[in-house]
Amino acid sequence: MKSVKVEFKNPFRPGAGQMPPYLAGREPQISEFRTYLKQSPILQNLVLTGLRGSGKTVLLDTFKPIAMKEDWLWVGTDLSESASISEETLATRLIADLSVVTSNIKIRKQSAATIGFITASEEEEMPVNYQMLVQVFQRTPGLVVDKVKSVLLFVWEHLQRQAKPPKGIVFAYDEAQHLSDHVKKEQYPLALLLEAFQSIQKQNVPYMLVLTGLPTLFPKLVESRTFAERMFHTMFLDHLERSESIKAITKPIEDDSCPIKLHAESVNVIAENSGGYPYFIQFICREVYDVFIQKKRLGEKASVPINEIIRKLDADFFSGRYARATDRQRDLLNVIAQLPKCDVEFTVHEIMKESATQLKKPFSSSHINQMLNTLTDAGLVYKKRPGKYAFAVPLLGQFLRRQIQEEKTLL
Ligand SMILES: Nc1ncnc2c1ncn2[C@@H]1O[C@H](COP(=O)(O)OP(=O)(O)OP(=O)(O)O)[C@@H](O)[C@H]1O
Ligand SMILES: [Mg+2]
Repeated sequence: MKSVKVEFKNPFRPGAGQMPPYLAGREPQISEFRTYLKQSPILQNLVLTGLRGSGKTVLLDTFKPIAMKEDWLWVGTDLSESASISEETLATRLIADLSVVTSNIKIRKQSAATIGFITASEEEEMPVNYQMLVQVFQRTPGLVVDKVKSVLLFVWEHLQRQAKPPKGIVFAYDEAQHLSDHVKKEQYPLALLLEAFQSIQKQNVPYMLVLTGLPTLFPKLVESRTFAERMFHTMFLDHLERSESIKAITKPIEDDSCPIKLHAESVNVIAENSGGYPYFIQFICREVYDVFIQKKRLGEKASVPINEIIRKLDADFFSGRYARATDRQRDLLNVIAQLPKCDVEFTVHEIMKESATQLKKPFSSSHINQMLNTLTDAGLVYKKRPGKYAFAVPLLGQFLRRQIQEEKTLL
């Protein structure tokens, strides 16, 4: 039989939540996650955080089969802002997510009757589905948090009675920086989540929270409930080490059937310009692959057109974020971009000093503080530690300096 030759396609995957062809440099986090699965009782939950495009979502997706292989159940989704409008909406989210894994548990009439379900015969069984969990929720007296706890306990009670009970449940929520309390409306969905899990974990119920999001996430948790500081361990996904960046670039095209090869020089240009940030590696590599294929077809020698690719990256990745900023916010960002350590961290005082040398109308410290808050809400900066801020978007400083340069050349 003739073997069918499959055409080797561009393997790189720039895009939110797109699993890369080779997941580089995350072994330490994966083995750390395995140790969290061994906890009994659960004393630590996980916050998986990092700048935009650092690989949080794909790492969370990688954790899922690992947990399931260790006999954990896995529930969760992306948390949109609407999930955290009120305590009830968060409760609905939790119940809907839980019901996906509980709906294949069947319980007998007697247990069902205690929460108001009447079935035809003693022997008849009922699934622990969404409706049943809502019933448990509604029949529990007290506050929303009490109702949620009662649903969580009810589920664990029945899971334990299974022929092969799971070790526990991982509640994995991506984009969890969207969670927040709303003091004016007297709605505290984030506090509810933290309180419910803390209480349930105290009762030795093995439910573990894995929250993923931008670096604003952890401070938000602590602001809502100070005990969150002890409840969570933070895993910060940084840029990849040089050796790991090189693997991320070269491993996907190692296959003999891959039509292109990259010289060490090209690999270095990509590694250098990506800053080791996973999204940038995928983006640049995808472009380079296409250019090299075209050149090969034409029989020409190829090199990495890095300036053109960076220009494309600016248009695709940075410009949209920059376009949403107001003129005054842009002024502030441009001042920050001139600070020598802006890609690491910066302070209000440093911005104020720099703005005095750069602008006709410099910023006051209270104005800077206020604008840093709005830029934080816009996902452009975050408070790294007391008094120190940083960009929440990788390599934003370089982009801003390119913009400034371009504007100067246009003048
Ligand atoms: N370890 C890695 N090695 C190589 N590429 C990676 C790695 N992690 C992520 N990527 C790639 O980086 C890009 C961004 O990944 P992902 O969407 O998981 O990031 P994120 O941190 O969740 O981003 P966001 O902050 O926008 O939610 C994807 O194209 C993905 O394929
Ligand atoms: Mg993500």
